[in-house]
Amino acid sequence: MDIKEYIKEKQRLIDNYLNNYFISPFKPRVLYEAMTYSLFAGGKRIRPVLALTSYEVCGGNPEDILPQASALELIHTYSLIHDDLPSMDDDDLRRGKPTNHKIYGEAIAILAGDALLTEAFRMMTVRKDSKKESRRISNKAIVTLIHEIAYSSGAYGMVGGQTQDIISEKMEPERETLEFIHKHKTADLIKASVRAGAILAGTKKSILNALTKYGENIGLAFQVIDDILDVEGKTEELGKTSGSDVKKGKMTYPALYGIEKAKQKSEELVSSAISVLKIFSSEADPLRDLALYLLKRRA
Ligand code: IPE
Ligand code: IPE
Ligand code: MG
Ligand code: MG
Ligand code: MG
Repeated sequence: MDIKEYIKEKQRLIDNYLNNYFISPFKPRVLYEAMTYSLFAGGKRIRPVLALTSYEVCGGNPEDILPQASALELIHTYSLIHDDLPSMDDDDLRRGKPTNHKIYGEAIAILAGDALLTEAFRMMTVRKDSKKESRRISNKAIVTLIHEIAYSSGAYGMVGGQTQDIISEKMEPERETLEFIHKHKTADLIKASVRAGAILAGTKKSILNALTKYGENIGLAFQVIDDILDVEGKTEELGKTSGSDVKKGKMTYPALYGIEKAKQKSEELVSSAISVLKIFSSEADPLRDLALYLLKRRA
């Protein structure tokens, strides 16, 4: 199957799950609206797609882990709402729409982010109504997963990276700090998404190790490409305002290495990601194709 079709099929599963989960409005209505406004604004769903793909590569049926995979998108969406706040990156456009705080105000945007983050952990504990053919995920696997996701999105992961990103604004770019920022603010959750599939499938260590390296490499590549797109992409295609990084004096790969070298880095990272998959045969082709697809993405 063509990788674009493959991704679309997975996105449909995620969107169906999320739509049903949030089908009933709750009180306060404005919180429900702010949360669903950003969640359904049209993200690529890359993190859940990666979790479903790695679960499938490990021999599972993606439908078994829809709650756990979809929960990753709640965490990611919260991080975007907070990332755009005036006190953070101060951006007005996200997923092709005005940013959350532009519509609901800062207080509600902060709270919608808090609620998405917290709800994600409840969602992770949901088990699919057991159809006969679907595998029931064990409590032990769920606890391991929750540990993994909390670790990669909190102080030691995404929030740590976001903090270093903010305190490094307008500073002279420097390799070690830049790597710290990108690894933690972005690569950690992407790596955890890939690992999530393997953890829930109960794979053996050697496979989990290979998938971890794959996740690290595409995770870092993902942020390097995001930096490149911020310089070269078009606002209409990106659905977010290009040129935002230079305006804020962000520490980015193009700022340290220049655009050509940054592109070369992203290509090297994607090749490394693909080369660690050599322990698999054709069952890992979707992961190989996904890595190449992310390299060529325009949004
Ligand atoms: C943007 O993430 C923020 C980064 C971590 C680079 P995505 O490019 O996955 O954004 P959406 O979810 O498709 O909007
Ligand atoms: C954000 O990085 C990473 C997050 C954890 C949200 P950016 O600040 O570069 O993301 P965009 O470009 O605003 O999507
Ligand atoms: Mg940011
Ligand atoms: Mg930003
Ligand atoms: Mg960016």
